[in-house]
Amino acid sequence: MTVRLGVLQDYESIRKSNNSTNALENSAYFPNAIREDLENGYLIFDDETHGFLAFYPTKKSDPPRVTIYNIYVPKSSRKKGSGFQMVEFLRELYPDRPILAKCPVDIESNKWYEHTGWKLKEVLPPEGRRKRALNLWVYEVES
Ligand SMILES: CC(C)(COP(=O)(O)OP(=O)(O)OC[C@H]1O[C@@H](n2cnc3c(N)ncnc32)[C@H](O)[C@@H]1OP(=O)(O)O)[C@@H](O)C(=O)NCCC(=O)NCCS
Repeated sequence: MTVRLGVLQDYESIRKSNNSTNALENSAYFPNAIREDLENGYLIFDDETHGFLAFYPTKKSDPPRVTIYNIYVPKSSRKKGSGFQMVEFLRELYPDRPILAKCPVDIESNKWYEHTGWKLKEVLPPEGRRKRALNLWVYEVES
């Protein structure tokens, strides 16, 4: 299996696959955040594609769920199952929690969410400094 929880030693591979050529795709994610996520055990990594998925579980006081705040697979490795396998890995880590993801309404990846079984829960309108509306996708717990 090539999908696993990332460790600090993966930082360089992730940084390289997340370089300036895809800055527009991935503009909200910074190197320090990657390090922190690796330290906290909040980053799933695919050894084969060097794709990654960054997430956080809600704190005890909030309703249990887990949120993906970044998922990325390098262009040359897309449509081979890496993104979906990382979501399934997260599902196995948190079998009882819905998984949430927010995605700008105008990007291609919304089709991927739809294709892989996510449900569109709501559309969040632009707010404050955020100029783009966001789709809120949910990957429900299997019944
Ligand atoms: C979204 C992303 C992570 C998907 O990763 P991926 O590894 O290519 O996805 P997978 O190969 O696991 O896709 C699983 C299925 O969805 C399909 N799929 C992949 N991308 C798709 C797309 N853009 N539109 C429709 N279907 C898509 C695949 O063909 C596959 O279908 P199948 O199971 O019927 O064969 C990747 O496209 C990416 O990194 N995009 C740029 C970053 C980004 O936009 N992240 C999301 C921010 S909200």
